[in-house]
Amino acid sequence: MYYQAKELNFYDAYEPYISSYTMNIHYNKHYKKYLDNLNELLKKYNYDYTKEQLVFNIDLFPLAERGNILFNLGGVLNHELYFSILGSGELSSSLSDKINEDFGDFNSFQEEFIRQANLLVGSGYTFLVLNNNNQLEIINVPNQDTPYSYGLIPLMNIDLWEHAYYLDYQNRKDEYINNFFSIVNFSEVSNNYEKAKTIQKNL
Ligand SMILES: [Fe+2]
Repeated sequence: MYYQAKELNFYDAYEPYISSYTMNIHYNKHYKKYLDNLNELLKKYNYDYTKEQLVFNIDLFPLAERGNILFNLGGVLNHELYFSILGSGELSSSLSDKINEDFGDFNSFQEEFIRQANLLVGSGYTFLVLNNNNQLEIINVPNQDTPYSYGLIPLMNIDLWEHAYYLDYQNRKDEYINNFFSIVNFSEVSNNYEKAKTIQKNL
């Protein structure tokens, strides 16, 4: 099994909130390392799974290797989602309605996401997910856990590992978290929501 890197060409597209220097190191050093590790661990296997299917079929692998595979697989999936939802783009009416239904309004959703992100200790992510009751939820996960492991479909996330912000913000993690909402492509998040509804139905 071998996975190709997802392309990221616009390192400077998120200035001034995230510098091109941070994006370059984040993508080329951190993300690519997870991908290389994952491919190295999987090279002796001949399965033909998508990365998401691999999470659901992790028990096909020897017990001693699962933790390492899952850690690097999570590292790849979580980074690919994070890089893909950075940018700019409008929320669809479908996701907007759902946010209003589950959080009250967009501001309440944003406040709750920021509140959760500030609560995360150590390395990890805050995610917006679709749960198996078809509700939106905001969750924190440690390290490189992927929401798929919990039957939750990720729609957007913020990387809260220090490598995501330290060069630009040092100890001011709260500023990075607040600025994050200025560079979310909600059109991409809306696409993820439409896909998630189909995936959740088939889980
Ligand atoms: Fe990261």
